[in-house]
Amino acid sequence: MSKFLNLSRAAKLIGVPRAILQQYVKEGRLESFDGMISTESLLAAFPESKFEEDPVFERITRIKEESFGKRIRERILPDREVLSARLYEQSRELADYRRHLERYHAIVVEAQEKLRVISSARPEVADLAKWLDHELGEALVTEAPDALDAMENYLRIVSAHVRIEPSGREYFVDGADTLLEAALRAGIAFNYGCSGGNCGLCKARLVSGETRQVRHQDYILSEAEKRSGFILACCHTAVNDIVIEALEAGQPEDIPVQEIEVKVKSVEQVGAISRITLQTPRSSRLRFLAGQSVYLFDQEYPIASCPCDDRNLEFHVLPNDVLSRLQKGETVLLQGPYGKFVLNERSGREPLFIASETGFAPIKSLIEHAMALDIYSAIMLIRTSHDGYLSNLCRAWESALDNFDYVETEEIHAALPDLAARDVYLAGPAAFVEEMKKSLMAKGLPASQLFTPSGA
Ligand code: FES
Repeated sequence: MSKFLNLSRAAKLIGVPRAILQQYVKEGRLESFDGMISTESLLAAFPESKFEEDPVFERITRIKEESFGKRIRERILPDREVLSARLYEQSRELADYRRHLERYHAIVVEAQEKLRVISSARPEVADLAKWLDHELGEALVTEAPDALDAMENYLRIVSAHVRIEPSGREYFVDGADTLLEAALRAGIAFNYGCSGGNCGLCKARLVSGETRQVRHQDYILSEAEKRSGFILACCHTAVNDIVIEALEAGQPEDIPVQEIEVKVKSVEQVGAISRITLQTPRSSRLRFLAGQSVYLFDQEYPIASCPCDDRNLEFHVLPNDVLSRLQKGETVLLQGPYGKFVLNERSGREPLFIASETGFAPIKSLIEHAMALDIYSAIMLIRTSHDGYLSNLCRAWESALDNFDYVETEEIHAALPDLAARDVYLAGPAAFVEEMKKSLMAKGLPASQLFTPSGA
């Protein structure tokens, strides 16, 4: 029996970006009814999906995490109570199916009996009775278990779907994540502060579905807020598919400047640059948008990691830079975020990233964020080849993701795709940015589609 799924769940199920399914629907290669997709048409459009051999739930997340070079999180199952609530809901649904099936079965047996009684006098009824017996026998023998359906049931136990109002953004809460952690991982700029149940800034209103508190909270919601369905996203998880009302940071100005004492977690030499990772205290993480910068020792540094990991902040610097002399365990005062070099998520155009030297730092942050958002069907990165640090990472992205193209060249102009449907994000040394800016605009790129750290 075919089941109807929303676009996000269908994309998660077969492990392709949501944008690719949208494109399939637009091109008529995948049928959709009121925004829902049947498992039958999904399987017809993606027949190569091998669910039993390649558990889809793991696939895309694992690819992304491996290619981002991040610690692979243990596959933690949801909290025990959340798990039992989800299992209970599925059992109830199964019991419902079983009840219907038994009822239908009784009707069919009765119909067979009635046909048998009248078939002796009427040959056409005898044919009908024979046909019915044959079809029922075939259905019982040949109907294989629906792998897609089984995977969908499995996904509903290990993850829950969340829609945020009024933006309409959607994401999944996997494993033991809270609503806030899962939103950040999905590239959503959820409004928050302490991420530890103290400040109340992550307050959200539950519109439908069920949530459960999985972390301790000190912040006290008023009785009126509780009655209206308010919860703290950093302390709650979703039991089933839910809709919440929550604030999101749409613009850089929505995020306040923060001052945080951070610790040097690692200093690593990668090719000609130093890759520094600074870690914030657990209770005071840096809220920022991908592509933004911070101040350290009165100098501005772009963050090279994405906001989905708000504790570990990565920076790329040249060997003579003051940051490269830092030692593991040292403490540094960080101030930020600053800057407007952020993704133009609502433009509907595909992103083209162009980077040279340490200009790759903010570009890396933007790319990781673009991947987490899962809204693009074609992401392209062009880098100059002479400085190629972390090239392996870029190649890993390209081989892991169908929607990612990577080119390393000194002939950037020759590698440029059609610019009409692209937003271009450009970063690198000032002279490089100026020259590229001029030639991109000479090729007809409108200023409104060009973004640089200093403003296009
Ligand atoms: S972020 Fe502070 S209470 Fe949730």
